[in-house]
Amino acid sequence: MRIRNVKNASEIINNSKYFIKYPKEERIDKIFNNEKPIHLEIGCGKGKFITEMAVKYPNINFIGYERSESIILRAIQKAEERDLPNLRFICADASDIKDIFYKDIDLIYLNFSDPWPKKRHAKRRLTHENFLKVYDDAFKGRKEIIMKTDNDDLFCFSVESFSKYGYIIEEMCIDLHKSDIENIKTEYEEKFSEKGFTIKYVKVIKD
Ligand SMILES: C[S@@+](CC[C@H](N)C(=O)[O-])C[C@H]1O[C@@H](n2cnc3c(N)ncnc32)[C@H](O)[C@@H]1O
Repeated sequence: MRIRNVKNASEIINNSKYFIKYPKEERIDKIFNNEKPIHLEIGCGKGKFITEMAVKYPNINFIGYERSESIILRAIQKAEERDLPNLRFICADASDIKDIFYKDIDLIYLNFSDPWPKKRHAKRRLTHENFLKVYDDAFKGRKEIIMKTDNDDLFCFSVESFSKYGYIIEEMCIDLHKSDIENIKTEYEEKFSEKGFTIKYVKVIKD
């Protein structure tokens, strides 16, 4: 995602009530202070999906997770226009998830993750086995991941990676917008579907 480096991004996001400072001492469940399930979107970009999900599902807590300060700033600005006690954001790399969450998360969304097409960069894909390992301890119990992408190669790689790691496919479709699966579009999804790309979707679970 190309975005200008925004001056003072760090200061602005640190002052937002929506921002979880990391590293932190507080446990994640103390932040929401309730027993509602927590859904995490890794690589939330400018936050359209996670913000609209938080509006639609007030009985679920949502965390948007993004490594770029300038990008997460846009997501936080979107959230600031509303009052959403069930939404927070964290700015960190996905590899830090093991230091931030422990048995907190019910579901992970991977929406339009960077495809890293070169074979030598496969380990950077957020569905690579190494990342699946990182997510393991973040899950509260049953592991559930939902992935959407326009990219055929990343989709095939990911489905194989999930399966090899012991995940079971619960729902899958290769043209999400022609299916009856409930869906909120992300920024990338709007952009790519307008260009004529079909959107691939898979939901996997692991006990
Ligand atoms: C292609 S964009 C998709 C954004 C959004 N999910 C959407 O669908 O519109 C991928 C996003 O993931 C973030 N990202 C990529 N690798 C990441 C990582 N290792 N940890 C955290 N965020 C990451 C990027 O900064 C970028 O904002």
